[in-house]
Amino acid sequence: MCGIVGFTSFNQVLPTLLKGLEKLEYRGYDSAGVYVNDGDQGDYLVKETGRVADLERATENKNIKGTSGIAHTRWATHGGVSVENAHPHASEDGRFYLAHNGVIENYDELRDTYLQGVKLHSQTDTEVAVQLIDKFAKEENLSAVDAFKKMIALLDGNSAYAFLLMDRQEPGIMYTAKKKSPLLIGVSDQGNVVTSDAAAMLDITHDFIELMDDEVAIVEKDKVTLFNAQGEPITRLPFHLDIDAAETDKGVYPYYMLKEVDEQAIVTRTLSQYYFDDENNIQNIDANIIDAMKAADRLYIVAAGTSYHAGLVGKRYFEQWARIPTEVHISSEFAYDQPMLSQKPFFIFLSQSGETADSREVLDNITKQGYPTLTIANVMNSTLTREADFALPLLAGPEIAVASTKAYTAQISVEAILAHAIGHSGLNLKLELAKVAVEMQVIIDQKEDFKAIAESALSGQRSAFYIGRGLDAAVAVEAALKLKEISYVQTEGFAAGELKHGTISLIEEGTPVFALLTQAKTAGLVRGEIAQVAARGANTIVIATKELAKTGDAYILPEVNELLMPLLEVIPAQLIAYYATLDRGLDVDRPRNLAKSVTVQ
Ligand code: F6R
Repeated sequence: MCGIVGFTSFNQVLPTLLKGLEKLEYRGYDSAGVYVNDGDQGDYLVKETGRVADLERATENKNIKGTSGIAHTRWATHGGVSVENAHPHASEDGRFYLAHNGVIENYDELRDTYLQGVKLHSQTDTEVAVQLIDKFAKEENLSAVDAFKKMIALLDGNSAYAFLLMDRQEPGIMYTAKKKSPLLIGVSDQGNVVTSDAAAMLDITHDFIELMDDEVAIVEKDKVTLFNAQGEPITRLPFHLDIDAAETDKGVYPYYMLKEVDEQAIVTRTLSQYYFDDENNIQNIDANIIDAMKAADRLYIVAAGTSYHAGLVGKRYFEQWARIPTEVHISSEFAYDQPMLSQKPFFIFLSQSGETADSREVLDNITKQGYPTLTIANVMNSTLTREADFALPLLAGPEIAVASTKAYTAQISVEAILAHAIGHSGLNLKLELAKVAVEMQVIIDQKEDFKAIAESALSGQRSAFYIGRGLDAAVAVEAALKLKEISYVQTEGFAAGELKHGTISLIEEGTPVFALLTQAKTAGLVRGEIAQVAARGANTIVIATKELAKTGDAYILPEVNELLMPLLEVIPAQLIAYYATLDRGLDVDRPRNLAKSVTVQ
């Protein structure tokens, strides 16, 4: 979703701001803009729809100079995709420039109450905010920071924001504030930065000060001043972010997605080494987490999208190994339609980004109700990890492609480890995960097979199905999401037995139906369902374990413990989605309309 970067420096800032925007591209956006201030020599505002590369081209030949500036990538919420609606937004007289992530719920009301007679140039809530700052500065003779604070005080309690403001009259100073939307202040010898995503500014610094909700900061090139919600100055030391900037690069890969699919073997190995010691005992899981989970009479896994799908698999481990009944819920539904809870619930939030607004809303509600919470996330220090009682890392490294891959398998591994820690899997899980890692590599090394499958089965097709039973049904929904979200082939993931209750009527001559077959108990039934769709003209593509395979199956999976098969069987689906998308000439990493981190509800 939207991204913010700002830099006040001893040097020219435009190249860093544009590079920062490029690093934010993975989050999904539809327009971008930059404001650079060169003090007495003037200032520059350039905005473009489309890619950051288009913005970059638009800045060429303008001889833009300046040692402070702010920039933004916008994912449209209020108003369509246009240059006028792109950020930063300027106040009427061009004094203030504002970049904003989030949503101002009462912007209509604020506009009607305070901005009668002010000509607005966009349909955005952000322009209302910057015009309010200008109005308060002018009419009440307030300083920039006081006008900024006054505007913030008028925002509806449900509003979410990360603001970055500059005042043309005070070049070199950035004002910033946040609520329910992430923002970091980076400090360095070259100057100081503000960013909604550390990855964007790793070339400048790895040292960041976290800005908390309702705080305001004034950021200058050699100074950062923080104020708490009461307006009192506070001190907070930076934390060091231990990410290698190279980890956020594609390296030799044509797309991040392929790199991230390939990394799954390493991530699985890393997780087994992190969560188990040399004697195969659990480590790095706080005993309080285990105690709190053991004391629970029911687990509630709450998540969105792919993370929700990982929860569907994890349910099996918590029920079978930890013997705790487990429900899996979609966060956007749970937030406003909370089901009846058990006496002693324990909540697990699964998230790659740790910033998903729907999940944050549930965490907020649940915290107010006083129930224990654990977040399992890839981005530690994110809102969901900070605000839950406990947090466990996924250790997958930065996931940049919009389509989640390695975070999904990491979530499944951590769920398995946690269930094993609470109960009895009866397995040497460390060893089993090491085997999974080896077999993942075997599948990854055969990626050309999936290119061939994708091209022959999906070329020219408008729709497809993934089917399976039990754990395979749980993976089928994730497999379908992967394929549809990046290739735009409309794909349904289905419990195989449910097809004949209606959906089978969609099967036509040649409809691709991918069947996942790894669970012995139901293999015979799924074979029957494959025959039923084949009899109605479907092109069936069976991905089966060696034990369950038959002549004519498209791909034979290596075998690991049956309950851990989701970790393997999803990889062919990820690669089929990848190659089908390439075959269609589409951008694998940046599918239309989507954002990496969904920070609005
Ligand atoms: C799909 C995908 C999304 C995310 C969902 C939740 O490939 O990435 O469905 O899984 O938006 O995001 P996180 O895991 O960051 O909470």
